[in-house]
Formats: sequence, structure tokens, C-alpha cells
Amino acid sequence: MSGDIVEVTERGAQKKPIRLMAAACRNMGIGMNGHLPWDLPSEFRFFLNTITSVCKPGKKNLIIWGRTSWFSCPENVFPLPNSINVVLSTRLRSVPEHAHYLCEDFDGMIHLASLPPLSSLVETIWILGGAQVYKQALEHPWCDHIYLTNIMADFDCDVFFPNFDGNIFKKQDRFPGVSDEIQEENGIKFQFQVFKKES
Ligand SMILES: NC(=O)c1ccc[n+]([C@@H]2O[C@H](COP(=O)([O-])OP(=O)(O)OC[C@H]3O[C@@H](n4cnc5c(N)ncnc54)[C@H](OP(=O)(O)O)[C@@H]3O)[C@@H](O)[C@H]2O)c1
Repeated sequence: MSGDIVEVTERGAQKKPIRLMAAACRNMGIGMNGHLPWDLPSEFRFFLNTITSVCKPGKKNLIIWGRTSWFSCPENVFPLPNSINVVLSTRLRSVPEHAHYLCEDFDGMIHLASLPPLSSLVETIWILGGAQVYKQALEHPWCDHIYLTNIMADFDCDVFFPNFDGNIFKKQDRFPGVSDEIQEENGIKFQFQVFKKES
């Protein structure tokens, strides 16, 4: 017996924490022309380290990408340790290289994570965007944290992080394992932030 508490819904699904990982500039922009508007290697390292960390050896995180976000990610980051990559798309007909699953809707992804055979393997569902995927995740009852790096600069953007209620997702003054220092790279200041859902 591991002593773990596993919450199971009435439909037999194992509840999994859903967490958003994003970086947004002053106007809440997250992307431009299918790419990140900034070049911040240390912010990108934080992002990769966080989404690939697991508390228990042998567990994996389910990493969720919208189609555009998936194809904008540099190929040299793959394979990501401790990760199962899921691409959301209604148009793709086969699983893209380096990914493990293709889902044609958000609920299909939730079923994949919370029912056998993956339910015993998956620790956390990390949502990597883009805008529509973030919005659906924020509305899901299992969503408990938003990791949102504050890029303290102005950039032209054509994709934006969705609005969320700051009374429901409360900004944490300190969060374990996350630096609250203002950092600077390539002349751009930024700060990691975590918002936690208060129920
Ligand atoms: N700053 C950040 O933290 C951050 C993070 C992620 C992305 N970005 C940036 O954001 C931009 C991409 O975001 P985006 O919003 O334009 O596109 P996206 O969400 O990455 O991709 C959009 C596509 O994903 C598929 N999709 C999305 N939700 C789906 C769902 N629920 N079910 C099935 N398919 C779904 C659809 O593909 P089909 O058309 O095939 O159906 C849709 O056209 C890029 O510029 C990227 O660099 C920034």
C-alpha cells in the first residue's frame, strides 16, 4: 500500500491536478506570428524544468499542447523527461513526431489522463497553451494552479492569455521551488508568479 489518497469521480475517473504554464507581457500577450515574442533562455529552462518534474519516481506528467504551440516548440527539447506529450487538434490525422497522443477535444484529453491505462502513471496535467486551451483549462474544476511568468515589457502580440478571476486564483507571495526575484535577461525584466485556486 502506498498510502496515496486517490480521488475518484463518480464515473470512475482519477482526479488529476491541471496546471497552466505560461509567460505573458504587459498587455497579457503570449505569442506573435506563431512564436514567442521574446528570447529568454532562463525563463524557458524554468518552464521545461517545472513541467518535467515529478514528485514520485516512475510517474509522468501529461503535457498538453495546442497544434500551433506544438509546432512552434524547438525540436531539440525532445524527448522531454517524465513526460507524455498530447497534441490537441481536429485537423491532424496522425500523431506528430515526438508526441505520444493526439486528442481531438479537451474532454478526450481528460479521459486519457484520468482513466486506465494512463491514470496510474499520470501525476499532473500541464497545459502549455495556446489561448483557447488555457481558457478551457481555467474553466475545468480540476485546475488548481497557474504558473504565469510576468514579462515586464511591451511586445506586439496576436495571442493573449485569457482573463481569470484574481479572487479565485490568488497570487502567492512565496511558492516552494519558485524564485520570486525579479530577473533580467537580454535587457528584459521578468518574474515568476504562481496563482493558486482558493476554494
Ligand atoms: N507565452 C507563452 O507562455 C505561450 C505558451 C503557448 C503558446 N504561446 C504562443 O501562442 C501562440 C499559439 O497559440 P494559439 O492560441 O494561436 O494556438 P494553439 O492553441 O497552440 O493551437 C491552436 C490549434 O490547436 C487546436 N486546438 C486548440 N484547442 C483545441 C481543443 N480543445 N480541441 C481540439 N483542438 C484544439 C486546434 O487545431 P486544429 O485547427 O488542428 O483543430 C487549433 O487551431 C504561438 O505564438 C505560441 O508561441 C505562448
